[in-house]
Amino acid sequence: MAEAERARAPAGGGPDLQALARRFEEEEAAVADRAGWEELRLAWVGRKAGRLRALLAGMKDVPPEERRAYGQGVNELKKRVEAGLAELDARLARREREADRRAAAVDVTLPGRRPALGTVHPVTRVNRDMERIFTELGYSVAEGPLAEDDDHNFEALNFPRDHPARDTQDTFFLEATDDQGRPLVLRTHTSPVQIRTMRERTPPIRVICPGQVFRCDNDLRHSPVFHQVEGLAIDRGITVGDLKGTLEAFVRRLFTPDTRMRLRPSHFPFTEPSAEVDITCPFCHGDGCAVCSDTGWMEILGCGMVDPRVLAGCGIDPAVYSGFAFGMGCDRVAMIRYGIPNIRLLFENDERLLRQVTV
Ligand code: PHE
Repeated sequence: MAEAERARAPAGGGPDLQALARRFEEEEAAVADRAGWEELRLAWVGRKAGRLRALLAGMKDVPPEERRAYGQGVNELKKRVEAGLAELDARLARREREADRRAAAVDVTLPGRRPALGTVHPVTRVNRDMERIFTELGYSVAEGPLAEDDDHNFEALNFPRDHPARDTQDTFFLEATDDQGRPLVLRTHTSPVQIRTMRERTPPIRVICPGQVFRCDNDLRHSPVFHQVEGLAIDRGITVGDLKGTLEAFVRRLFTPDTRMRLRPSHFPFTEPSAEVDITCPFCHGDGCAVCSDTGWMEILGCGMVDPRVLAGCGIDPAVYSGFAFGMGCDRVAMIRYGIPNIRLLFENDERLLRQVTV
């Protein structure tokens, strides 16, 4: 028991309970918050250091004739302390509830919070631009399945069975088979949609076919999933001049109006003649820079005149109709347009990349 309390003890011995009661009231009045309340509780009724406990323990020091009165006094003090603590607790709890309510309330004077809007993926942007440009040129959009049969992905496109041209396609084979027991494949290009369109429609045909394609290929420039847009135009009297003019109009709108283009002879089984198309580098406009490895040119697509065998196989008479087809990688165009060095960046969904690509 503290010295001060002993000193104020009445003549009969034992602590001065009235002084203690006054002390409690002073301390009680000074409590301002939950922490203060907890301190008060520990000081008075705490199991270890609580004063009331000490008072009860001190009973043995009180002369026997005063014990009854002492006991009653301690009891009253205890009731007073407990009532005081309970009353304070209730008051604090009311205040806390009120504070919670205020915190939860909407402050209508605050400025609005801008919702985090997503952005359009660079490949989607490129795709939309391509669709817009070609629909302006009179094309419509056609689609086909991602899991294709051997006929649409290869055979009808003039890739004969067991022909080495198929090796260039790095194909994923599925367990499911077509009606001839050949495994279905994840389409390796969008060209099978040409076949589907020519078999379903009669010329004149003008379509573009955007979509995902798959090849087991994985490095800085190749991803196993990527995106192509195929183009197909079939009509009477279509020539290489139409192909060239269409592609020129396209690349000038997709890149810049001063973009130049060149055709390099190439080979695809389903077009004859075939060409690869380069455009002047959109960064140096043909002067040569690091992006185009100082060549001034960038390859962006493959194209050609639809092979008469392919037309005939789709029920279109090659003596009456001719046409051209082209196919390009949207990921590659997005990489060129936005200067993205690694194709994987397009598929990692890192917001830092997505936030930079805004036009
Ligand atoms: N399908 C070809 C490829 O993926 C591209 C192409 C399409 C070439 C149409 C010519 C005509 O490589």
